[in-house]
Amino acid sequence: MQTKTLIKLIVAAVCALALILYGVGLFDGGSLRYFLKNRGDLGPLTREDIEYKDIEAPAATSRDGTVTAADWQEAFPYITATMGDNAKNSYILDYLEQDPYLVNIYEGFGFSKEYGSARGHSYTLEDVAATQRPHPKANCLTCKTPNLAKMVQDQGVGVYSMPFDEVMALMEEDVSCYTCHGNDAGSSGKLTVTHTYVTTALGENASAIDPATLSCGQCHIEYYFTPSDSETMMPYHSVAEMTPEAIYAYYEAMGFSDWTQPSTGTKLLKAQHPEMETFLQGKHAALLNCADCHMPIEQALDGTVYHSHLLVSPLENEMLLSSCAACHGDTDMVNMVRRLQERITARETEVGTRLSSLKDALAKAVADQIADEDKLDEVRALYREAQWYFDFCYVENSEGAHNSELAVRCLDTSDQLITKALALLDSLNKAD
Ligand code: HEC
Ligand code: HEC
Ligand code: HEC
Ligand code: HEC
Repeated sequence: MQTKTLIKLIVAAVCALALILYGVGLFDGGSLRYFLKNRGDLGPLTREDIEYKDIEAPAATSRDGTVTAADWQEAFPYITATMGDNAKNSYILDYLEQDPYLVNIYEGFGFSKEYGSARGHSYTLEDVAATQRPHPKANCLTCKTPNLAKMVQDQGVGVYSMPFDEVMALMEEDVSCYTCHGNDAGSSGKLTVTHTYVTTALGENASAIDPATLSCGQCHIEYYFTPSDSETMMPYHSVAEMTPEAIYAYYEAMGFSDWTQPSTGTKLLKAQHPEMETFLQGKHAALLNCADCHMPIEQALDGTVYHSHLLVSPLENEMLLSSCAACHGDTDMVNMVRRLQERITARETEVGTRLSSLKDALAKAVADQIADEDKLDEVRALYREAQWYFDFCYVENSEGAHNSELAVRCLDTSDQLITKALALLDSLNKAD
């Protein structure tokens, strides 16, 4: 009896205290959680702290029926605002200035004229319209806007080969809600693949990939345009085939090349940005998805817990950095990752510089006609393959952080192929 009364009294006292504090505005339920979290009592916020909403989609104000970020603003103010914050990521690093050997390697291709680092999703349309690289067809809009994805859904893959300018005039948004959620964001943030080539290429095998990873993998991947109808396509049908070796074999089998280099006469491949392929073969593949490291879970002052849609580096965000500790303990992650990246980029410079020398030597051999075409073709084949493995690593945006073993494997393979090609050239020069 007495204990019960005591408990009731204590409960009443705690409630009263909470009410008073709430009343004087010291904190509401949400910031209480925040307060405790910062004291380290509850650990970082997780998906379990998110209150998922089941609401109907608002009416679309777009011309094509895609519900826009502005349309979702009222239902998801924080998500919409943080997505807008991607505009703050506006810096472009000029790769050609940083690594001048690239200008030589990419000779005869648009990337030798302009090749800057990626920036925030808010710039996709602006950047594709402004690029000095040729962009004659609508397929260049594939990874820039939900409106192109919708147009392909509605009108079929013929859209990809329509004139760029004609289709560009119809585009309304940069990467946006529809890209990753269709019009289903209100169904507990359901993720929907809207880029049809993902389904065409992977079919059932897509279900082996975590939906959050696949949502990014609609664009952060290696792709090509089919020679017959300029359709955007992924060069594989399963996760097992997402290795640089298997993709190379795929391109070899179809005789594919992105361009023929004038000075060496070599049919070369240009890798794009194989983040998903690289990540899926790495050590985190079975443990984490892209959102775990690039979309921090935050809490607003009114208590709402949500995934920030500002896509950041985990090294520059406290919440994400603290999430590493669950597995990495008290390792200084910034230092660990930066050292790994330095090691990979130094090796990239080494191999890239050698690749550039091989290109010069081959161009000279071709100009001097030191051997028959079929002998030179043997060198060209080695050069083509070396360029592929170098590029697969160079153009991946994490500089080795997603998968350092794969980065090293690509660079070593490239290096060995360069050595072979130079030896062959040497023997041809001597035979001459
Ligand atoms: C519709 C295609 C598309 C999808 C889907 C997509 N991205 Fe992107 N992403 C891009 C493009 C294109 C850029 C480069 C934009 C530019 O530079 O104009 C980019 C840029 C980025 C950047 C900035 C890179 C930098 O160097 O600053 C990050 C980070 C990023 N994306 C992460 C993600 C993550 C994480 C996902 C999944 C949640 C995702 N993206 C989904 C197309 C996409
Ligand atoms: C284990 C955490 C982790 C996961 C999971 C992860 N990344 Fe990353 N990602 C990183 C780190 C670390 C970097 C390097 C950041 C830096 O240099 O500041 C990075 C860099 C990037 C970049 C370059 C932009 C930048 O901010 O440097 C992009 C784009 C990117 N990741 C996309 C993806 C995509 C897409 C996925 C899923 C397929 C993914 N990441 C999964 C940790 C991760
Ligand atoms: C580049 C892809 C991408 C875009 C663009 C995008 N989302 Fe998301 N969204 C995600 C991912 C990934 C998650 C987290 C899934 C998980 O739990 O791993 C998510 C989660 C959500 C959730 C579930 C609640 C939460 O906080 O996790 C909602 C609701 C949501 N998004 C709404 C929107 C709205 C509204 C927009 C446009 C303003 C939008 N999203 C734009 C990829 C995207
Ligand atoms: C769920 C567990 C888990 C979490 C969370 C996690 N990691 Fe890892 N990470 C691992 C494992 C396991 C390895 C492999 C360790 C090994 O081989 O020694 C690894 C390795 C790495 C590597 C080396 C990868 C390579 O290919 O060389 C980097 C870089 C890394 N983690 C970064 C991060 C960052 C940054 C975060 C937080 C944003 C993070 N990790 C969160 C489990 C995790």
